[in-house]
Amino acid sequence: MSFLSVSKVSKAFGGNTVVDAVDLDVERGTFFALLGPSGCGKTTLLRMIAGFETPDSGTISIDGEVMNAVPPHQRPTNMVFQSYAIFPHLNVFDNIAYGLRQLRLPREELRRRVETMLATVRLEGLGGRAADQLSGGQRQRVALARALVREPKVLLLDEPLGALDKRLREAMQIELRTIQRKVGITFLLVTHDQEEALSLSDRVAVMSGGRILQVASPRELYQRPNCREVASFIGEMNFFHASVKDIGEKGVTVNAGLLGNITLPRANAANGIKTGDTILLAIRPEQVRVASEGVTGEIITQTFLGERSHFHVKIAGRTAPVAVSGHPPPGSAVTLAFPPENLIGLPSSD
Ligand SMILES: Nc1ncnc2c1ncn2[C@@H]1O[C@H](COP(=O)(O)OP(=O)(O)OP(=O)(O)O)[C@@H](O)[C@H]1O
Ligand SMILES: [Mg+2]
Repeated sequence: MSFLSVSKVSKAFGGNTVVDAVDLDVERGTFFALLGPSGCGKTTLLRMIAGFETPDSGTISIDGEVMNAVPPHQRPTNMVFQSYAIFPHLNVFDNIAYGLRQLRLPREELRRRVETMLATVRLEGLGGRAADQLSGGQRQRVALARALVREPKVLLLDEPLGALDKRLREAMQIELRTIQRKVGITFLLVTHDQEEALSLSDRVAVMSGGRILQVASPRELYQRPNCREVASFIGEMNFFHASVKDIGEKGVTVNAGLLGNITLPRANAANGIKTGDTILLAIRPEQVRVASEGVTGEIITQTFLGERSHFHVKIAGRTAPVAVSGHPPPGSAVTLAFPPENLIGLPSSD
């Protein structure tokens, strides 16, 4: 059994299922992200793991122990909330020491652990500062230190950086990752920011409508999404309808309309695809090539993004323009190629 194991956990509010038979396995010491759009049930799932909410069914266990009947304060978890819940009337030191007071540690031991924590979150020397005299990023680090100082087995972080501006958030992301490596505690981070999830985590679970759609490494999630929803939630993706003609040794041959007949490697096609099925071919904007042979179209928008560029190509007979990353060629006419090895075959959801 994995370190943190969520098995068939469901929760409904007023007859409305918001967490639907969720299974989740998190290995010890990993940085794990739970990624999904607003309202998909992320906070509810996290609150059940922390014990603030009771599952209607299913089992939650940590380090081999079933948690369902264990009250929140006796669970080996700690939670960091989106709105930095620190005490404004206490100074930084006392905010961090708060969680340790109940342990009745010797004074020296307490001081040592708080000082170590201050250093970990790079707030050395700020122990005496009043909490309301801190910047947003510093406050968030105090909240983090306060959650970490009890040395939980699992730290639950609910959009901890959501309130910070972009610059500070990026700096804090790097810091979160560094701190996690340093302390080695299992982090379960909830976010709706896909870049945050991909850049920080060892593994990511994509959640939608109360269900987990896919659990994978960031790279795998990007390169091999298992459905349209994951593919479009993680970065940008072009989709083409295609029908499966043949599934053979060499690969899966499809008729993709404007793109013609294409044989993609078997590994690029989702499991369970059968001859005759209508599927979706998906390709990332950076994998579409400007070529001398292929599908011709007209460049309709160009976006200059500094070191990168982005353009959209209208192809006759197709409504959605094709998104392409890279610098557009001069003129408005362009020929695009879709390398078969970069096409992914997904089940068609419509
Ligand atoms: N105590 C509650 N009573 C009734 N409905 C609730 C309660 N808590 C959450 N919900 C509903 O459950 C659904 C999931 O909520 P949840 O807070 O888990 O979403 P989330 O994924 O964390 O969203 P966000 O990214 O916006 O924080 C929402 O539709 C929400 O309105
Ligand atoms: Mg939430």
